[in-house]
Amino acid sequence: MREEIISLKNEAIAQIMETSSISELENLRIIYSGRNGKLTSLIKKLKEFPKDKRKQVGILINETKNSLNQIISSQKNKLSSSSRKWFDPTIPGIKPKLGNLHLVTKAIREISLIFEKIGFVRVRYPEVEWGYFAFEALNMPKTHPARDEWETFFVDSKLNSKFGQTVLTPHTSSGQVREMLRVKTPPIRMINIAKCYRRQSDVSHTQMFHQFEGLVIDKDISIINLKGTLDYFAKNFFGNKRKTRLRPYDFRFTEPSFEVDISCDICNGKGCKLCKEGWLELGGAGMVHPNVLKAGKIDPKKYSGFAFGWGVERTYMMKSGIKIPDIRFLYSSDLNILKQY
Ligand code: PHE
Repeated sequence: MREEIISLKNEAIAQIMETSSISELENLRIIYSGRNGKLTSLIKKLKEFPKDKRKQVGILINETKNSLNQIISSQKNKLSSSSRKWFDPTIPGIKPKLGNLHLVTKAIREISLIFEKIGFVRVRYPEVEWGYFAFEALNMPKTHPARDEWETFFVDSKLNSKFGQTVLTPHTSSGQVREMLRVKTPPIRMINIAKCYRRQSDVSHTQMFHQFEGLVIDKDISIINLKGTLDYFAKNFFGNKRKTRLRPYDFRFTEPSFEVDISCDICNGKGCKLCKEGWLELGGAGMVHPNVLKAGKIDPKKYSGFAFGWGVERTYMMKSGIKIPDIRFLYSSDLNILKQY
Protein backbone atom coordinates (compact mmCIF):
# COMPACT_ATOMS: atom_id res chain seq x y z
CA MET A 1 0.00 0.00 0.00
CA ARG A 2 2.79 2.36 0.91
CA GLU A 3 4.48 1.83 -2.46
CA GLU A 4 1.16 2.33 -4.23
CA ILE A 5 0.69 5.69 -2.51
CA ILE A 6 4.24 6.79 -3.25
CA SER A 7 4.05 5.87 -6.93
CA LEU A 8 0.68 7.62 -7.19
CA LYS A 9 2.26 10.72 -5.66
CA ASN A 10 5.21 10.61 -8.09
CA GLU A 11 2.91 10.12 -11.05
CA ALA A 12 0.79 13.08 -9.92
CA ILE A 13 3.80 15.37 -9.37
CA ALA A 14 5.19 14.53 -12.82
CA GLN A 15 1.88 15.46 -14.43
CA ILE A 16 1.47 18.64 -12.39
CA MET A 17 4.90 19.89 -13.42
CA GLU A 18 4.18 19.39 -17.09
CA THR A 19 0.91 21.25 -17.01
CA SER A 20 0.75 24.68 -18.52
CA SER A 21 -2.81 25.75 -17.87
CA ILE A 22 -4.84 26.42 -14.76
CA SER A 23 -7.79 24.39 -15.95
CA GLU A 24 -5.58 21.31 -16.50
CA LEU A 25 -4.25 21.72 -12.96
CA GLU A 26 -7.78 21.79 -11.62
CA ASN A 27 -8.50 18.57 -13.55
CA LEU A 28 -5.47 16.89 -11.95
CA ARG A 29 -6.62 18.00 -8.51
CA ILE A 30 -9.97 16.32 -9.13
CA ILE A 31 -8.33 13.16 -10.52
CA TYR A 32 -6.00 12.71 -7.51
CA SER A 33 -7.52 14.34 -4.49
CA GLY A 34 -11.11 15.11 -5.50
CA ARG A 35 -14.07 13.38 -3.85
CA ASN A 36 -13.87 10.41 -6.19
CA GLY A 37 -10.17 10.83 -6.86
CA LYS A 38 -7.48 8.14 -6.80
CA LEU A 39 -6.19 9.01 -3.29
CA THR A 40 -9.68 9.25 -1.84
CA SER A 41 -10.55 5.84 -3.18
CA LEU A 42 -7.52 4.44 -1.29
CA ILE A 43 -9.05 5.73 1.96
CA LYS A 44 -12.08 3.59 1.24
CA LYS A 45 -9.80 0.58 1.00
CA LEU A 46 -8.50 1.21 4.56
CA LYS A 47 -11.13 -1.08 6.04
CA GLU A 48 -9.25 -4.05 4.57
CA PHE A 49 -6.20 -3.29 6.73
CA PRO A 50 -5.56 -4.62 10.18
CA LYS A 51 -6.61 -2.02 12.77
CA ASP A 52 -3.08 -1.22 14.00
CA LYS A 53 -1.87 -0.27 10.51
CA ARG A 54 -4.97 1.70 9.41
CA LYS A 55 -3.96 4.80 11.30
CA GLN A 56 -0.44 4.96 9.80
CA VAL A 57 -1.68 4.46 6.22
CA GLY A 58 -4.51 6.94 6.76
CA ILE A 59 -2.05 9.59 7.89
CA LEU A 60 0.19 8.87 4.88
CA ILE A 61 -2.74 9.22 2.44
CA ASN A 62 -3.83 12.51 3.99
CA GLU A 63 -0.31 13.91 3.98
CA THR A 64 0.09 12.94 0.34
CA LYS A 65 -3.22 14.59 -0.52
CA ASN A 66 -2.22 17.77 1.29
CA SER A 67 1.17 17.99 -0.30
CA LEU A 68 -0.29 17.39 -3.78
CA ASN A 69 -2.85 20.12 -3.16
CA GLN A 70 -0.08 22.47 -2.10
CA ILE A 71 1.99 21.74 -5.18
CA ILE A 72 -1.06 22.26 -7.38
CA SER A 73 -1.94 25.62 -5.82
CA SER A 74 1.64 26.93 -5.97
CA GLN A 75 1.78 25.84 -9.60
CA LYS A 76 -1.50 27.67 -10.23
CA ASN A 77 -0.01 30.82 -8.73
CA LYS A 78 3.07 30.60 -10.92
CA LEU A 79 0.98 30.21 -14.06
CA SER A 80 -1.34 33.08 -13.28
CA SER A 81 1.49 35.51 -12.49
CA SER A 82 3.49 34.64 -15.62
CA SER A 83 0.46 35.24 -17.85
CA ARG A 84 0.05 38.76 -16.45
CA LYS A 85 1.71 41.26 -18.86
CA TRP A 86 4.37 43.47 -17.37
CA PHE A 87 3.39 47.09 -17.73
CA ASP A 88 5.81 49.91 -17.11
CA PRO A 89 3.95 53.24 -17.21
CA THR A 90 7.19 55.23 -17.43
CA ILE A 91 8.20 53.91 -20.88
CA PRO A 92 7.36 56.55 -23.56
CA GLY A 93 4.40 55.48 -25.72
CA ILE A 94 4.52 54.64 -29.42
CA LYS A 95 3.33 57.69 -31.33
CA PRO A 96 0.92 56.85 -34.14
CA LYS A 97 2.06 58.29 -37.47
CA LEU A 98 0.10 61.41 -38.32
CA GLY A 99 -0.94 61.78 -41.93
CA ASN A 100 -1.55 65.08 -43.69
CA LEU A 101 -3.88 66.14 -46.42
CA HIS A 102 -2.49 66.32 -49.95
CA LEU A 103 -1.56 69.82 -50.97
CA VAL A 104 -4.20 69.81 -53.71
CA THR A 105 -6.95 68.77 -51.29
CA LYS A 106 -5.92 71.57 -48.96
CA ALA A 107 -5.88 74.07 -51.81
CA ILE A 108 -9.33 72.99 -53.06
CA ARG A 109 -10.80 73.33 -49.56
CA GLU A 110 -9.27 76.74 -49.09
CA ILE A 111 -10.38 78.02 -52.49
CA SER A 112 -13.97 76.75 -52.03
CA LEU A 113 -14.23 78.38 -48.62
CA ILE A 114 -13.04 81.77 -49.88
CA PHE A 115 -15.61 81.82 -52.69
CA GLU A 116 -18.42 80.37 -50.58
CA LYS A 117 -18.04 83.34 -48.23
CA ILE A 118 -19.15 85.68 -51.02
CA GLY A 119 -22.06 83.54 -52.15
CA PHE A 120 -20.52 81.22 -54.75
CA VAL A 121 -21.91 77.67 -54.80
CA ARG A 122 -19.54 74.80 -55.44
CA VAL A 123 -20.73 72.48 -58.22
CA ARG A 124 -19.21 69.60 -60.14
CA TYR A 125 -19.66 68.61 -63.73
CA PRO A 126 -18.52 65.53 -65.66
CA GLU A 127 -14.82 65.01 -66.17
CA VAL A 128 -15.56 62.63 -69.04
CA GLU A 129 -17.53 65.08 -71.10
CA TRP A 130 -19.13 65.67 -74.48
CA GLY A 131 -17.00 67.67 -76.86
CA TYR A 132 -19.99 69.99 -77.22
CA PHE A 133 -19.71 71.41 -73.67
CA ALA A 134 -15.92 71.67 -73.84
CA PHE A 135 -15.88 73.42 -77.23
CA GLU A 136 -18.97 74.12 -79.38
CA ALA A 137 -21.02 75.54 -76.51
CA LEU A 138 -18.03 77.78 -75.78
CA ASN A 139 -18.05 79.37 -79.21
CA MET A 140 -15.47 77.01 -80.72
CA PRO A 141 -17.08 75.29 -83.73
CA LYS A 142 -15.94 71.84 -84.86
CA THR A 143 -12.94 72.78 -86.97
CA HIS A 144 -11.90 75.94 -85.18
CA PRO A 145 -8.10 76.20 -84.72
CA ALA A 146 -8.48 77.72 -81.23
CA ARG A 147 -9.28 74.19 -80.01
CA ASP A 148 -5.63 73.21 -80.47
CA GLU A 149 -4.72 75.14 -77.32
CA TRP A 150 -6.46 72.51 -75.22
CA GLU A 151 -4.41 69.45 -76.25
CA THR A 152 -7.42 67.25 -75.63
CA PHE A 153 -7.64 63.52 -74.96
CA PHE A 154 -10.48 62.01 -76.97
CA VAL A 155 -12.18 58.93 -75.62
CA ASP A 156 -12.53 56.11 -78.11
CA SER A 157 -16.20 55.57 -77.42
CA LYS A 158 -18.92 54.07 -79.58
CA LEU A 159 -21.49 56.40 -78.04
CA ASN A 160 -23.07 58.62 -80.64
CA SER A 161 -24.68 61.77 -79.46
CA LYS A 162 -25.83 65.07 -80.77
CA PHE A 163 -23.18 66.42 -78.39
CA GLY A 164 -20.35 64.97 -80.48
CA GLN A 165 -17.26 63.09 -79.35
CA THR A 166 -16.43 62.11 -75.80
CA VAL A 167 -13.42 63.88 -74.28
CA LEU A 168 -11.57 64.02 -70.97
CA THR A 169 -12.49 67.56 -70.22
CA PRO A 170 -9.47 69.82 -70.82
CA HIS A 171 -10.87 72.71 -68.73
CA THR A 172 -13.57 73.41 -66.18
CA SER A 173 -15.14 75.90 -68.59
CA SER A 174 -17.13 72.88 -69.84
CA GLY A 175 -19.25 73.40 -66.72
CA GLN A 176 -20.31 76.93 -67.74
CA VAL A 177 -23.10 76.07 -70.16
CA ARG A 178 -24.11 73.04 -68.07
CA GLU A 179 -24.60 75.40 -65.10
CA MET A 180 -26.64 77.86 -67.19
CA LEU A 181 -28.89 75.03 -68.40
CA ARG A 182 -29.31 73.76 -64.84
CA VAL A 183 -30.07 77.08 -63.14
CA LYS A 184 -32.11 78.43 -66.11
CA THR A 185 -32.65 81.94 -64.71
CA PRO A 186 -29.77 83.96 -63.27
CA PRO A 187 -28.32 84.94 -60.83
CA ILE A 188 -25.56 82.35 -61.12
CA ARG A 189 -22.55 82.27 -58.83
CA MET A 190 -20.76 79.04 -59.55
CA ILE A 191 -17.42 77.69 -58.45
CA ASN A 192 -16.64 74.48 -60.32
CA ILE A 193 -13.51 72.64 -59.17
CA ALA A 194 -12.58 69.49 -61.04
CA LYS A 195 -9.87 67.38 -62.63
CA CYS A 196 -8.82 68.38 -66.13
CA TYR A 197 -6.72 66.51 -68.64
CA ARG A 198 -4.33 67.65 -71.34
CA ARG A 199 -1.61 65.96 -73.33
CA GLN A 200 1.32 67.69 -71.64
CA SER A 201 4.01 66.81 -69.13
CA ASP A 202 6.93 68.94 -67.97
CA VAL A 203 8.08 70.80 -64.84
CA SER A 204 4.97 72.96 -64.83
CA HIS A 205 2.42 70.58 -66.41
CA THR A 206 0.88 67.20 -65.62
CA GLN A 207 -1.56 65.28 -67.83
CA MET A 208 -4.08 65.40 -65.01
CA PHE A 209 -4.44 68.60 -63.00
CA HIS A 210 -7.19 70.61 -61.35
CA GLN A 211 -8.90 73.84 -62.26
CA PHE A 212 -11.31 76.07 -60.42
CA GLU A 213 -13.78 77.95 -62.53
CA GLY A 214 -15.85 80.86 -61.40
CA LEU A 215 -18.95 81.96 -63.28
CA VAL A 216 -21.18 84.88 -62.33
CA ILE A 217 -24.21 85.84 -64.39
CA ASP A 218 -26.72 88.47 -63.42
CA LYS A 219 -28.09 91.83 -64.57
CA ASP A 220 -25.48 94.61 -64.98
CA ILE A 221 -22.37 92.53 -64.35
CA SER A 222 -19.26 94.34 -65.59
CA ILE A 223 -15.48 94.09 -65.58
CA ILE A 224 -15.50 95.98 -62.27
CA ASN A 225 -17.24 93.00 -60.63
CA LEU A 226 -14.66 90.66 -62.16
CA LYS A 227 -11.74 92.75 -60.93
CA GLY A 228 -13.29 93.11 -57.46
CA THR A 229 -13.83 89.36 -57.15
CA LEU A 230 -10.27 88.58 -58.27
CA ASP A 231 -8.81 91.09 -55.83
CA TYR A 232 -10.92 89.68 -53.01
CA PHE A 233 -9.65 86.18 -53.84
CA ALA A 234 -6.02 87.25 -54.18
CA LYS A 235 -6.02 89.04 -50.82
CA ASN A 236 -7.67 86.11 -49.02
CA PHE A 237 -5.64 83.39 -50.66
CA PHE A 238 -2.22 85.01 -51.05
CA GLY A 239 -2.24 87.71 -48.38
CA ASN A 240 -3.15 91.38 -48.11
CA LYS A 241 -0.12 92.74 -49.94
CA ARG A 242 -0.69 90.91 -53.22
CA LYS A 243 -2.37 92.72 -56.12
CA THR A 244 -3.91 91.45 -59.37
CA ARG A 245 -3.83 92.93 -62.85
CA LEU A 246 -5.71 92.12 -66.03
CA ARG A 247 -3.78 91.76 -69.27
CA PRO A 248 -5.63 91.66 -72.63
CA TYR A 249 -5.81 88.21 -74.15
CA ASP A 250 -8.17 86.22 -76.28
CA PHE A 251 -10.43 83.31 -75.57
CA ARG A 252 -13.30 82.37 -77.86
CA PHE A 253 -15.74 82.15 -74.94
CA THR A 254 -15.08 85.52 -73.33
CA GLU A 255 -15.14 89.03 -74.79
CA PRO A 256 -13.13 90.91 -73.71
CA SER A 257 -10.68 88.29 -72.45
CA PHE A 258 -7.82 88.65 -70.03
CA GLU A 259 -4.93 86.89 -68.47
CA VAL A 260 -4.83 87.58 -64.75
CA ASP A 261 -1.47 88.28 -63.11
CA ILE A 262 -0.59 88.43 -59.43
CA SER A 263 2.15 90.65 -58.03
CA CYS A 264 5.33 88.78 -57.10
CA ASP A 265 5.55 88.24 -53.35
CA ILE A 266 9.29 88.88 -53.28
CA CYS A 267 9.52 92.28 -55.04
CA ASN A 268 5.85 93.28 -54.71
CA GLY A 269 5.43 94.11 -58.40
CA LYS A 270 8.69 96.04 -58.92
CA GLY A 271 10.53 93.28 -60.75
CA CYS A 272 13.23 90.98 -59.39
CA LYS A 273 15.49 88.11 -60.43
CA LEU A 274 12.80 85.51 -59.86
CA CYS A 275 9.76 87.06 -61.53
CA LYS A 276 11.60 89.40 -63.93
CA GLU A 277 8.67 91.75 -64.55
CA GLY A 278 7.12 91.87 -61.08
CA TRP A 279 4.06 89.82 -62.05
CA LEU A 280 3.25 86.11 -62.22
CA GLU A 281 0.58 84.71 -64.52
CA LEU A 282 -2.38 83.10 -62.76
CA GLY A 283 -4.75 82.19 -65.57
CA GLY A 284 -7.58 83.23 -67.87
CA ALA A 285 -10.69 85.31 -67.29
CA GLY A 286 -13.14 87.50 -69.16
CA MET A 287 -16.70 88.62 -69.75
CA VAL A 288 -18.91 85.74 -70.93
CA HIS A 289 -19.38 85.84 -74.73
CA PRO A 290 -23.00 86.40 -75.89
CA ASN A 291 -22.85 83.17 -77.93
CA VAL A 292 -22.03 81.23 -74.76
CA LEU A 293 -24.99 82.80 -72.96
CA LYS A 294 -27.16 81.84 -75.93
CA ALA A 295 -25.92 78.23 -75.77
CA GLY A 296 -26.98 78.28 -72.10
CA LYS A 297 -30.43 79.65 -73.11
CA ILE A 298 -29.79 82.95 -71.37
CA ASP A 299 -30.70 86.21 -73.09
CA PRO A 300 -27.50 88.26 -73.64
CA LYS A 301 -29.57 91.43 -73.94
CA LYS A 302 -30.85 91.01 -70.40
CA TYR A 303 -27.92 89.41 -68.65
CA SER A 304 -24.14 89.63 -68.65
CA GLY A 305 -21.48 87.76 -66.72
CA PHE A 306 -17.84 87.07 -66.09
CA ALA A 307 -15.82 83.87 -65.81
CA PHE A 308 -12.34 82.85 -64.77
CA GLY A 309 -10.57 79.50 -64.75
CA TRP A 310 -7.23 78.78 -63.14
CA GLY A 311 -5.11 75.77 -62.26
CA VAL A 312 -5.36 74.74 -58.61
CA GLU A 313 -1.77 73.41 -58.43
CA ARG A 314 -0.33 76.41 -60.24
CA THR A 315 -2.20 78.91 -58.09
CA TYR A 316 -1.16 77.14 -54.89
CA MET A 317 2.47 77.16 -55.98
CA MET A 318 2.37 80.94 -56.14
CA LYS A 319 1.61 81.26 -52.46
CA SER A 320 4.47 82.83 -50.55
CA GLY A 321 6.97 80.31 -49.27
CA ILE A 322 5.78 77.34 -51.35
CA LYS A 323 8.63 76.09 -53.44
CA ILE A 324 7.89 73.06 -55.58
CA PRO A 325 10.61 72.65 -58.20
CA ASP A 326 8.58 70.26 -60.38
CA ILE A 327 4.78 70.09 -60.40
CA ARG A 328 4.95 66.36 -61.25
CA PHE A 329 6.24 65.71 -57.71
CA LEU A 330 2.69 66.34 -56.49
CA TYR A 331 1.51 63.15 -58.16
CA SER A 332 4.61 61.02 -57.64
CA SER A 333 3.22 59.47 -54.40
CA ASP A 334 6.62 60.00 -52.77
CA LEU A 335 5.77 60.56 -49.10
CA ASN A 336 9.13 62.19 -48.38
CA ILE A 337 8.12 64.97 -50.74
CA LEU A 338 4.40 65.12 -49.96
CA LYS A 339 4.98 65.29 -46.20
CA GLN A 340 6.69 68.66 -46.63
CA TYR A 341 3.57 70.48 -47.77
N1 PHE B 1 -10.72 77.72 -69.69
C1 PHE B 1 -9.60 78.59 -69.84
C2 PHE B 1 -8.32 77.76 -69.78
O1 PHE B 1 -8.37 76.60 -69.55
C3 PHE B 1 -9.53 79.64 -68.77
C4 PHE B 1 -10.68 80.59 -68.78
C5 PHE B 1 -11.79 80.34 -68.02
C6 PHE B 1 -10.62 81.75 -69.55
C7 PHE B 1 -12.86 81.22 -68.01
C8 PHE B 1 -11.67 82.63 -69.54
C9 PHE B 1 -12.77 82.39 -68.78
O2 PHE B 1 -7.25 78.27 -70.02
